[in-house]
This record gives sequence, C-alpha cells and structure tokens, in this order.
Amino acid sequence: MKVLVIGGGAREHALCRSLSLDPEVTSLHCAPGNVGIADVAELHPVDALDGTAVADLAERLGADLVVVGPEAPLVAGVADAVRSRGIDCFGPSREAAELEGSKAFAKDVMAAAGVPTARSYVCVTAAEVDAALDAFGAPYVVKDDGLAAGKGVVVTGDLAAAKAHALACIGTGDGRVVIEEYLDGPEVSLFAITDGTTVVPLQPAQDFKRALDGDQGPNTGGMGAYSPLPWADPKLVEEVERTVLQPTVDELRRRGTPFSGLLYAGLAITSRGVRVIEFNARFGDPETQVVLARLRTPLAGLLRAAATGQLAGHPAPRWSDGAAVTVVIASYNYPDAPRTGDPITGLDEVAEKDERAYVLHAGTRGDDAGRIVTAGGRVLSVTATGSTLAKARERAYRAVDRIGLDGGHHRTDIAAEAARV
Ligand code: AMP
Ligand code: GLY
Repeated sequence: MKVLVIGGGAREHALCRSLSLDPEVTSLHCAPGNVGIADVAELHPVDALDGTAVADLAERLGADLVVVGPEAPLVAGVADAVRSRGIDCFGPSREAAELEGSKAFAKDVMAAAGVPTARSYVCVTAAEVDAALDAFGAPYVVKDDGLAAGKGVVVTGDLAAAKAHALACIGTGDGRVVIEEYLDGPEVSLFAITDGTTVVPLQPAQDFKRALDGDQGPNTGGMGAYSPLPWADPKLVEEVERTVLQPTVDELRRRGTPFSGLLYAGLAITSRGVRVIEFNARFGDPETQVVLARLRTPLAGLLRAAATGQLAGHPAPRWSDGAAVTVVIASYNYPDAPRTGDPITGLDEVAEKDERAYVLHAGTRGDDAGRIVTAGGRVLSVTATGSTLAKARERAYRAVDRIGLDGGHHRTDIAAEAARV
C-alpha cells in the first residue's frame, strides 16, 4: 500500500512512524512533513491547504490512501479534493469537518443527537454577550466560533477579561462567539475511527493544555499527554461510545454529511457525568503520540478500512497493556510569539542511548549548516513507553534531559499524578 500523509507536526510524525512499521505499507510519503519525518517518509513540498495540489500529488504518486492530519486542510476540503480523483482518503469532508470548524455547528449537532455538553449561547452582539455571561456567572468560558488552534478559548474568573475576549471574537472571523457553562472535573481525550456508520473507539488519553506546571499559564496546543488513564472508570470508553460517539456519527449521517475519519471527543468528567467540551475532526496532538505508541494493530489497514467504509469487517484494535508518555518541548516564548532558529542538540544521543524512547518532530527544520533548528512553537514530542506510567514517564524525562535548546521549555509534571495512582 502506498500512503501519503498530509501535515508536518509531531502528530504526523507519529502517524508516519506507525505507518512505516506496518508491513502492508510499501511506500510512505508526507507533504510537507518535517526534518524528523524525512527519516521514515519521502517528503514533498506541497501546501497542505491546497486541495488540487494535494490531489495532484496523490495521483502522481499512485497513492492508495491519503491520510490528512491537521484540521485546516480538512475544513478547506482537501479530503473531498482527493476523493474526487477516486483515491481513498482518511479524513472527513469539508461539511463534516465543520464539527470542529464551527463550535456553533457542533453544539447544534449535539443538541439534535442528545449528546451531553455544556449549556451555551451563541452571541453576535455585546448585549447578548453581557446577558450570557450574567446567566452563567463565573468562571466564564468564552470561545471563538472558528478554528483557533486551541488558543481561541478563554476560561477566567475575570468578567472584564471574559467580555474583552468575547468582543474580540465578535469583531473577527464569522462574528460569532460561544459562551458556555463552566465544566469542572478532569479532561479526557477519546478518539474514534469511523467510516460514517461504524465507530471504533481508541484508548483514552489525557492532554495537558496549559503552558506551565500545575495547569498554570496560558492555553496551548498541548504540552504533553499520557495513556492509559489508571484513574478513569473502566466503563468510560463504552459509555462515551454509546452516549457521544455513535449518536454524533449517526446524526451527521442522517443530515446527509456522514463523518468518516477520526472523531475526537474532548470530554470533561464532571460530578454530573461525562460532558463533551469540544469535538475535533482529526487526531489530537499530542495525544496521538501516546495512543499510537500503544496500538498493536497495523495502522494502515485500520485507516483504509475507515476510508473505504469497511470498518464493520475489520478486527478490533489490539493494545499494549503498557503505558506511554509524551512530553512536548516548546521554543522560547511559546505560546505567545515563539522564537525560531535556535539549534537543537542531543537528538542523536536519545536515539543511541534511550531504549523505548524516541523524539517526534514538530516545529523543526534543517539549516544551511546541517543543524536542526526550531521552526515553530511546539518543537519536539519526546515519547516513551513502559510497563507502567511511572516507567514510561521516567524514560521520557530522561530523554528530555538529553536535549539542548536555548530558551526551550517543557512541563515537568506530565502524567505525574496519574503515575501515583
Ligand atoms: P476547546 O478549544 O474547546 O477544547 O477549549 C480549550 C480548553 O479550554 C479545554 O481543553 C478546557 O481546558 C477549557 N474549556 C473549554 N470549555 C470549557 C468549559 N465549558 N468548562 C471548563 N473548561 C473549558
Ligand atoms: N491536544 C488538543 C488538540 O489536538 O486539539
């Protein structure tokens, strides 16, 4: 099977790594990829957002399967462009990807499907914003309606800050802001692979969204993740499949916009039960790094079964009993205005010395001097596995310690609490 992966972050590196280990994959390509992905796939300098260019590339390569990683190409209709050439594609249509592309649309689907989520108002005027903030009270949750790479959400006890963010959202994009009830309790990311009818949940993971230890600092794209969740109810996956994933997939099919690809449910485990915080239309980053580290079933066959509507006949995924931890190393000043061009050292040392640990690249590039330097905010996902979370964690941090990056920062508490359970 010839596979083309679209994207260039650590999630795509994780996808490419797993695909490269699948004996069915005879040739692996990635566009645009990054300098780390180049170790396992052939790179192509194609704009991931350009559907025609991606479809042209897939055709030229004779790809049997295209896997779209990030949300922006999906929302831009890249999967539709690929499928229109008769090439199988893992990733939802532009219309189905609105589940992530518009929070207002997601709320509408959830209401129709009876999926438990935070109560919310979609506001377009300052007066509506005031009324909604007043109705829910503090802490305030204010979300930009459109895509914002995890940074469009403000959760604050400060009414003035909540109002200011809401007004900024109204002033840009589609002019809509979502204000919702605050959900307390731990967060869980649960992914499901679906062909639009059958739903196959993967293993749950937890992401660390805040920049600093102890969940302090600003929201980021994600600073680390682990799986499994020793503290979670063993029935969680089954419950979420029944109350969230299957009804959502059924509702989208009923609307004539079936969702095939990866359905990501961001959940809060509240005192009143499980609630959906958000849906995404693609693999989560960095959760994918730990979920795929535990997947034993060859990935390409699973993704192709989803892309071709044959998931019902595919064997259930198998998982390692062990654990995986990923720690994100971010560049100086991330998430504000990350500095780029800083050299990264120690990568070879991890590859040589650390068993069961590996480095997945995100914002990196090779410079003219042959060094690997930073090229974005989240730079590396250092991932390790072990028989327990504590062991995986120890290995991941040992590898992190070998890596040198001027001004780089990472959280030191990824999976710390869960490893004590
Ligand atoms: P989102 O982009 O919707 O995933 O939001 C980013 C982060 O903001 C989430 O992972 C939560 O930590 C937080 N958040 C979003 N919605 C809520 C909510 N209703 N209650 C509490 N925290 C929330
Ligand atoms: N880890 C959060 C996300 O992928 O949106």
